[in-house]
Amino acid sequence: MVAVAILAAGRGTRMKSDLPKVCHTLGSLSLVERVLNSCLAVEPKRRLVIVGYQGERVKASLESFVNIEFVEQTQQLGTGHAAQQLIPYLDGFTGDLLVLNGDVPLLRPNTIKLLLETHQANQNAATLLTAQLPNPQGYGRVFCNGQDRLTQIVEDRDCTAAQKQNRRINSGIYCFNWPKFAKVLPQLQANNDQKEYYITDAVNYLDPVTVVDVEDYQEILGINDRKQLATAYNILQTRVKETWMERGVTLIDPASITIDDTVELQPDVIIEPQTHLRGKTAIASGSRIGPGSLIENSQIGENVTVLYSVISDSVVKNNTRIGPYTHLRGHVEVGESCRIGNFVELKNTQLGDRTNVAHLSYLGDTTTGDRVNVGAGTITANYDGVKKHRTKIGDRTKTGSNSVLVAPITLGEDVNVAAGSIVTEDVPNDSLVIARARQVVKRGWRLKSSES
Ligand code: UD1
Ligand code: CA
Repeated sequence: MVAVAILAAGRGTRMKSDLPKVCHTLGSLSLVERVLNSCLAVEPKRRLVIVGYQGERVKASLESFVNIEFVEQTQQLGTGHAAQQLIPYLDGFTGDLLVLNGDVPLLRPNTIKLLLETHQANQNAATLLTAQLPNPQGYGRVFCNGQDRLTQIVEDRDCTAAQKQNRRINSGIYCFNWPKFAKVLPQLQANNDQKEYYITDAVNYLDPVTVVDVEDYQEILGINDRKQLATAYNILQTRVKETWMERGVTLIDPASITIDDTVELQPDVIIEPQTHLRGKTAIASGSRIGPGSLIENSQIGENVTVLYSVISDSVVKNNTRIGPYTHLRGHVEVGESCRIGNFVELKNTQLGDRTNVAHLSYLGDTTTGDRVNVGAGTITANYDGVKKHRTKIGDRTKTGSNSVLVAPITLGEDVNVAAGSIVTEDVPNDSLVIARARQVVKRGWRLKSSES
């Protein structure tokens, strides 16, 4: 049985932020959310998050996660002290405990799996995730006898000059046999340079302990400041983009594109430069997105094109063309084979198939049928200053240029709205509606000059 504990009580002073460090976001998820997700693969029976600095805020940020236990560390007296807070919570627990740092967000699930498997195969008291770093400065150094049996961990600040030469470092990720760990935790002393209780001392008391070197040392990068946050974002982006390219997605100029790791793409999607895909977005095969587009939390069907447009919280069905300069927001649904064009904004609007809104329109809170043609400059006046109202437009209806549809209003099927109309009352099927002042022409009329 496996339990997971995440150390997340620290303030993260170097972030220079009001927000606790572990709540900072990396792509669409916070640091601590990423750490929680990275250990899903080992199916932990219990998940404990140790909180301290702005603990309430950290808790609130994890509201959507179920079965998380929060452990308070009111004073932050070191990583060993944080682990000591677990003792009453894990009383009677006889399984293994994975300990992760809340500020190490790039771990791959397989790495954690390997750590746990090594731990269990060797029946270790503790197993340590280590890395060989080109620049190990700042990290605790790990000394082993033979290949991977641990003899000692020494914090960077407590290292001799000779010990500092060792490039094998402690990632701060551990797997412990909980009963053995619980027995040594109360023995920790704060007799070090920082006067803190070190979790690494507990490791030094245990035996046998082996280490597992992580293959890609970028995985154990800790976030202490904004520069490291940006570096981690780039690493994550590279991973995500490489994955999609391997799976058959074309990225034109990948450096100018960003893709959250919550996005799903099918083979033969093409992403053009300066395009950003965020949140729970999915794009189906054959679609071409960009250049210059932002899509968030939206589902895009097959063979859709999106050019210089912004789409959020919306659905676009197959073979539809969007843009340039279209804005879809607030639960829009665009049917199949539609064309939504230049300078069009749709909000909370559902369009049937083969419907066009090609130029300069705003449709808010509107439902249309199929094969509707919304003429250039058509506007739904959906807001009376207090409430929003709906507009309904039947199949095959056409609105003339510069029509204003004052909601609540229903236009039937096969209606024609004359250009420049301000339509305030419902229109039945098969009608022409003209709602504008009749043109007046005064023949032979001339401005009278004051002279004559
Ligand atoms: C720790 C390790 C070091 C390792 C490094 C890897 C110790 C003594 N040293 O050092 O060997 O190379 O991680 O990144 O453990 N935290 C608490 N409560 C506390 C103190 C810390 O919850 O009282 C949390 C922090 O929020 C953070 C994590 O523990 O998420 C690590 O603490 P930090 O102070 O950053 O440890 P390091 O000095 O980096
Ligand atoms: Ca750290």
